[in-house]
Amino acid sequence: MKHNHNPFTKEYAEGYKRSHLKEVDFDYKKDYVEYLIIDSMYQDYDMLDVGCGTGGYWRLLKNSKSIHGIDYSPAMIEAGNELKNLYDFKNTSFSCEDFEKYIPDKKFDVIKMLNWGGYRPYSLEIIKKTYEALKEGGMAVFPIRMPDNFRDKIRMFLGKEKIKLSEKQFKKYLSNFKNFDVLFSMKIQRHGSTAIFFVKKTDTK
Ligand SMILES: C[S@@+](CC[C@H](N)C(=O)[O-])C[C@H]1O[C@@H](n2cnc3c(N)ncnc32)[C@H](O)[C@@H]1O
Repeated sequence: MKHNHNPFTKEYAEGYKRSHLKEVDFDYKKDYVEYLIIDSMYQDYDMLDVGCGTGGYWRLLKNSKSIHGIDYSPAMIEAGNELKNLYDFKNTSFSCEDFEKYIPDKKFDVIKMLNWGGYRPYSLEIIKKTYEALKEGGMAVFPIRMPDNFRDKIRMFLGKEKIKLSEKQFKKYLSNFKNFDVLFSMKIQRHGSTAIFFVKKTDTK
């Protein structure tokens, strides 16, 4: 998809909106494969979709009970509401918020994080907020930009990398929580090397 990279512009939002008007084919499913995995693992789930953009890909989901999407771009939310009306999505809502300042008013079965690394690196605070907003037994899905080459690894070692995160560092963050365990992860080429981690908040009872 060719468009500018500023999510606050109408042009960016319209580019995403158009992409969700196309038919669902193999490549489309590949681009949203983590949602297909979520939808095959959970039934009647409440999902928080962080950095949902237009949310147009919610048309892939068949088993959700409710979806709340947040995005800090008003242009994305506006385009998202147009798609919501067009596809008549039920039990879905949007709010325009920055996840860093967001205070959830309930807990969720699933939290899908945006490809955070495209914007800034994951921090312990972001992971803690995700953990706290999850029900026990719930799952968080974290796509993470990984180092693409040796140069990236050196930059990381020198503390100069501002976007990408190593698997080791991510797992170190997770080790701060006694019941937040990686179930599995998958590697995918998406704006460079990305790894998607499926992390479960296991039951403590
Ligand atoms: C790649 S876009 C997602 C587009 C979406 N997959 C779609 O198809 O419409 C990532 C989104 O994350 C949002 N975003 C980035 N950082 C955010 C934050 N801190 N809080 C909320 N939204 C954020 C951006 O505004 C952007 O719309």
